[in-house]
Amino acid sequence: MKLFLDTANLEEIRKVAAMGLLDGVTTNPTLVSREKGAFKDILRNICEVVPGPVNAEVVSTDTEGMLKEGHELAKIHPNIVVKIPMTRAGLVAVRKLSSEKIPTNVTLIFSPNQALLAAKAGASYVSPFLGRLDDISHVGMDLVRQIVAIFDNYEFETEVLAASLRNPVHIVEAALAGADISTLPAKVFDQMFDHPLTDIGLRKFLEDWEKVKQTI
Ligand code: E4P
Repeated sequence: MKLFLDTANLEEIRKVAAMGLLDGVTTNPTLVSREKGAFKDILRNICEVVPGPVNAEVVSTDTEGMLKEGHELAKIHPNIVVKIPMTRAGLVAVRKLSSEKIPTNVTLIFSPNQALLAAKAGASYVSPFLGRLDDISHVGMDLVRQIVAIFDNYEFETEVLAASLRNPVHIVEAALAGADISTLPAKVFDQMFDHPLTDIGLRKFLEDWEKVKQTI
């Protein structure tokens, strides 16, 4: 499973990219609103440090506006993926961009039918938002399982990008469900490294090595 960071913060992205563990980045208007600087500069800087797809979202709600924004975003860097909301107008834009070989990610997916329509429109990625479903007492991960099964049945090439992940258990479940990608806040990415038994075990090994050292 590929791991993306769900942030527009360059420092967070640099840290994970430097470890060689970063496959891509997702941003959205809310994440970008937390950063300083011009939108396109933020994206350009992110693309310079990320060795894979960088998702940038359009804010128009009509097809024509989405296409205009999509074309502008795609010019920023070859790794840009145009993120388009799951609407009727959005899927028409996805079909057009896909015919021009511009990669797209259909965002705000909350049902398997939405994912099916997005895949049929030619989306490169679909983004089911698990945490937001959990927030309203639905099992978000069931949606990923359903989408993965449907895409497998019909051999869609559209990748399933598990989004709105809030904790390390979400990542395990998304991996078991067969999601192609999980996108995580930097804090959750960091939490994946930790286990108290690893810390205790390492401390003990280093203590015991002190005794061996005296014999060298
Ligand atoms: C994904 O592309 C979205 O940016 C993101 O995962 C949304 O997460 P949230 O529900 O925590 O805002």
